[in-house]
This record gives sequence, C-alpha cells and structure tokens, in this order.
Amino acid sequence: MKDILCLGIETSCDETSVSVVKNGREVFSNIISSQIEIHKKYGGVVPEIASRNHIENINVVIQEALEQANVTFKDIDVISVTYGPGLVGALLVGVSVAKGLAYALKKPLVGVHHIHGHIAANYIAHTQLEPPFISLVISGGHTHLVNVKGYNEFEILGKTRDDAVGEAFDKIARVIGLEYPGGPKVDKLAKQGDITYKFPRTYFDNLDFSFSGIKTAVLNTVNNSKDIKVEDVCVSFEEAVSEVLVTNSIKALQQNNCDKLVLAGGVAANSYIKEKLENALNEKGYKLYYPPNVLCTDNAAMIASAGYYKYISGKQDTLDLNAIANLKIGER
Ligand code: KG4
Ligand code: ZN
Repeated sequence: MKDILCLGIETSCDETSVSVVKNGREVFSNIISSQIEIHKKYGGVVPEIASRNHIENINVVIQEALEQANVTFKDIDVISVTYGPGLVGALLVGVSVAKGLAYALKKPLVGVHHIHGHIAANYIAHTQLEPPFISLVISGGHTHLVNVKGYNEFEILGKTRDDAVGEAFDKIARVIGLEYPGGPKVDKLAKQGDITYKFPRTYFDNLDFSFSGIKTAVLNTVNNSKDIKVEDVCVSFEEAVSEVLVTNSIKALQQNNCDKLVLAGGVAANSYIKEKLENALNEKGYKLYYPPNVLCTDNAAMIASAGYYKYISGKQDTLDLNAIANLKIGER
C-alpha cells in the first residue's frame, strides 16, 4: 500500500498544534504551541483568548510542522482536524483552516474526535499495538473506560458522573496555591509526601466514576486546618484517585475478557497513577500501555494518527464539517 502522509491539526483547548505523521504511526513533526503562560494569570483557560491566540498562531505552526517534517503541502495526502469536543471557538479555528486547506489543495478532509486522538497516541508510542483493548481515558474533560473494539469502533463502559480526574487535579491544585494547570505540579509535590489523609473513594455498581466527593474532601481539609502538609495532601489525593481507577480498570478488563489496558489523556502523564496501575495489572497478568508525556497531553500527532485510521477505513468529511463542542465518544 502507498504511504499516506497525514497533516493533523489540534486547537480544541489551549494548545495550537500541527503535525505530520506517516501511516498513522511515524511522527515526522509534532509542533505544539502552548498558551499556558497566557491563561495562567486567569487560573484557567479563557475561551475567547484561546480562540484569538489560535488564529494568530495557526499559520506559523503549520509552516513549522511542514518544515520540520521536510515536506510541502504537495506531499500531504490527508488533512485531519479535531472537530470536537472542546471549546467551540477554539475548535472552529482548526476546522476552518483544515477546510480551507482541503479545498485549496484538493485533499481529503477527515474530522477527528479529540478523545479518539488521545487513544491513538498509543499507536504512535507502541507500533505493534492494535485493537481490541480497553482504554482508560483520563484528561481535563474526560474520565472514561472505553472498549476499543477496532480502530474506529468505540463502546463506552463507564464514565464520570461529575468531575473529570484532570479537573479534580486542577481544582485541588488551585486551592493549595499552585498555578494552572495544577496536575503536573501535584504530581511533583506528591513525590515528597506520605499518605496521611484518608480521602473518600466513590464506587457504583457499574463502571462509572465520581470525583466530586474526593475533591470536596480535599478542599475541606485544606480550608479547615491551619497546618496541612501540602505534599501529604497531594499524595493522599493521588492514592484515592488511583485506587478507584485501578479497581474499575481491572473490572473492565475482566468483564470484557481483555488483557490490555491503554492509558490516554493528559492525566496519563501522572507518575503515581501509572505506577499504581502498572503494579496492579502486573500482578494479574495484564499489560499496561501509555504514551510518553508529550503525547499524553494535547498534540496534533495523535489527531493525525486517528485521522489516518479513519481515512483508510473509507471515511471522509465534506466541507460542511462543523465544530461540535459536546461531541460524544464513538460518534463520527
Ligand atoms: O488531555 P489534556 O491535555 O487536555 C484535555 O483534553 O483535557 O489534559 C489536561 C489535563 C489537565 O487537567 C492537567 O492538569 C492534567 O491533564 N495533567 C496531569 C499531569 N499532566 C497533565 N495531571 C496529573 N499529573 C500530571 N503529570
Ligand atoms: Zn485532550
């Protein structure tokens, strides 16, 4: 089969990213222009500011991605872009640019679900990995257990009923005075702490999650006592979250007779969660996969990979592709 070069575009939140990926697995370039410094002073992403920055950055990032890959527009076979879920104004920048490129260059256009992209990051990191497997998606906006039955076939097994894990990380980080995004800073501090606080774990009789109870318990602990040890709070929080993630992931593997768990999303960068999952899964003879940190958080290489698999399955989008802020996993 002829090689296929896919240009990926990701603008769903606060990273403007463009990538060139060969055959869904080989990254030629993956340029990520982060707006974190801009949003930091507001304590979180300001949607309007994110959209404006995407507009300012996108052309430069595209050029850089082509240059680093040592290709021109002519060499690109497919244009893929995140069209949801995310901030609608931010998504629209990527979608509009992708449609413009597809039209001007007469290339096929493929809209990609952001979370299908996060899962596909693992195809880049583990070149032999193929579905079926169970994916634990943990990001700023999602906490989902997904049965990945094929490259383009997803079944949701469980999801959070309130906060996403990353959201809980960012909120507790904020209350202990850490800058946005707090997840990586909690990760670092936790390494110096001891598990001295017992925070609640929430379970349901299915594979759903809930993190608002843990979050509130942490916030109350921090607000109600004068001499808290921040490092201990961080690691106690991670321990509570990990326990729930491990328990539900193992249940999902058992119920679906599967032995592969694939981590995806920004929180998959968390060292404590990875270690806990790794140990628990090893004990049961299951295998854990996760991408390197740069492919855990938002990037366009994962979108180009997912776009490639959608394209080779025969799916394409037309120029009426629109941004969908609340696109559901598994929808096309
Ligand atoms: O996947 P992502 O880049 O964006 C979304 O699609 O939401 O995930 C961002 C989330 C943020 O909540 C951030 O705090 C969290 O991932 N995160 C981490 C770590 N690195 C990023 N959380 C815990 N530990 C980390 N090392
Ligand atoms: Zn993401």
